[in-house]
Amino acid sequence: MTKWNLAIDGPAGAGKSTVAKRVADQLSMVYIDTGAMYRALTWLALNKDVNIHDEAEMHHLLKESDIRLRGPEGEEGIYVNGTNVSKAIREPQVTNNVSYTAQHAAIRKEMLRKQQLLAAEGGTVMDGRDIGTAVLPNAEVKIFLTASTDERAKRRYEEEIAKGMDSDFEKLKKEIAERDKIDSERTEAPLKKASDAVELDTTELTVDEAVNKICLIAEKRVDADE
Ligand code: CDP
Ligand code: CDP
Repeated sequence: MTKWNLAIDGPAGAGKSTVAKRVADQLSMVYIDTGAMYRALTWLALNKDVNIHDEAEMHHLLKESDIRLRGPEGEEGIYVNGTNVSKAIREPQVTNNVSYTAQHAAIRKEMLRKQQLLAAEGGTVMDGRDIGTAVLPNAEVKIFLTASTDERAKRRYEEEIAKGMDSDFEKLKKEIAERDKIDSERTEAPLKKASDAVELDTTELTVDEAVNKICLIAEKRVDADE
């Protein structure tokens, strides 16, 4: 049986990582979080005082760093130069700077190369912003996951409250809208629905419903191709 890839793109808080992980488990595929790679580089730049807006400096930093989506024993987690940064890359400082890192052409070129290698043998569920359009344009199944800005901000708010954080809904909503704007308006591989992607609005859906719908779409597509 040929192994196929599933691309999931969409704006912040649409549910990509939550849903992609579950779909990957259900279909016995491997989940790849490409946003974590941009976040890891952003975390490193902030820690090393590298200017995020300087493309050459950022490219140099990426070339000399070791970013991995698995631990030394194959455990889940994102590692930068051997350090587990899985939690640190979700901090607001990283979230609010990552879109600047992701604007640079030289960074995107290198990330795309790494991501294509990870999916070369198929069997992956990869989520991000440009998977269906640039990283895996030939992915057998493509989903563009959306939800209203209010709903996406509400989801982030609830996550922060559950973590015991002092959250501010309006501030989160503004930050999400700002990140969407930068991601959608950049020149290099902007956030965009691939012409052959199926759009799924999850505003009114539970996680289970979204997972089931994607699995059904995937099974239909893959069966039709066999
Ligand atoms: O989980 P969340 O939607 O907040 O973001 P993420 O998937 O972790 O991605 C963080 C940022 O990385 C995005 O806002 C984009 O700027 C960038 N990114 C990208 O440009 N291309 C990708 N394939 C994945 C992420
Ligand atoms: O990766 P992305 O930024 O697109 O979203 P996420 O990090 O998976 O966060 C989505 C949040 O919304 C999680 O807390 C989910 O439990 C929740 N959620 C969802 O993902 N899908 C729904 N249909 C409803 C809620």
